[in-house]
Amino acid sequence: MDALRLDNVSYVYSDGIKAIENVSFSVGRGERVALVGPNGAGKSTLLRILAGLYFPTSGTAEIAGTPLTKKEAEGLRRKVGFLFQDPDDQIFMPTVWDDVAFGPINLGLVEEEVRERVANAMSMTGIEGYEERVPHHLSFGEKKRVAIAGVLAMRAPILLLDEPTANLDPQGRRDLVKILDSLSETVVLATHDLSVAFELTQRAIVLKRTKIFDGSPRELVERSDILAEANLELPSLLRTMALWRTETGKAFPMPLTVEEAVRTIVDETRGQ
Ligand SMILES: Nc1ncnc2c1ncn2[C@@H]1O[C@H](COP(=O)(O)OP(=O)(O)OP(=O)(O)O)[C@@H](O)[C@H]1O
Ligand SMILES: [Mg+2]
Repeated sequence: MDALRLDNVSYVYSDGIKAIENVSFSVGRGERVALVGPNGAGKSTLLRILAGLYFPTSGTAEIAGTPLTKKEAEGLRRKVGFLFQDPDDQIFMPTVWDDVAFGPINLGLVEEEVRERVANAMSMTGIEGYEERVPHHLSFGEKKRVAIAGVLAMRAPILLLDEPTANLDPQGRRDLVKILDSLSETVVLATHDLSVAFELTQRAIVLKRTKIFDGSPRELVERSDILAEANLELPSLLRTMALWRTETGKAFPMPLTVEEAVRTIVDETRGQ
């Protein structure tokens, strides 16, 4: 059974803005998918629908085979860890510890389990020592880490992450990629950072109100039409490799990572 499924979902805001139009896709259990697209493409709206926070204007959204209706949403929300794009929408408790513990306490877990989960999530996100800090006094990147810790502490089988790496420093970004890569949960992450998408997922969905692409990163990097339409920019390493390929008339497949790029350079220049 699919972990997530959207059938012809459209969403119109109360002021008439059509944010999502006829979007269909399903995500298998344990699959990781990147949702990419320009500002205003509907990524956050779509994640909120999958999180059971908004309901489709038309079409249906399902979690693990159950339609996300107002009646079912409350129960299904427990299956989903949702990271808001803006951490200020997520963190609201008087201390960081209370904030990270909020979800686990709401799940009705015993105190010992709550403490273990909070400590573990805070360690994973590098915010040990912040327990007594006031969330609203933290820097944006620190707030983001607190919000991510709160989501990880839920240990939900499905994670919906809206721009998880935005505003993290390079080490924080690397740490988060490593954490997400180690998870076996189903993950849908909205991002403008294609290198994060390529490092973490085998599938990218490009959204621009409608779905304009659904395929592997390897296919996407060769689709300059889609990249241009969605205001996406390949990471500089890939732009360099693409230019080198054009300039030299070589025919190698585009590498997606630094390691693949080095291997390509070694192979393509051997014997020269
Ligand atoms: N509460 C709202 N009321 C009316 N329109 C909204 C509301 N929230 C979002 N929109 C509009 O819906 C469209 C989709 O917005 P959404 O936030 O889903 O885009 P996004 O792809 O997440 O963009 P970004 O990359 O900037 O985060 C935009 O045109 C936006 O202005
Ligand atoms: Mg957004």
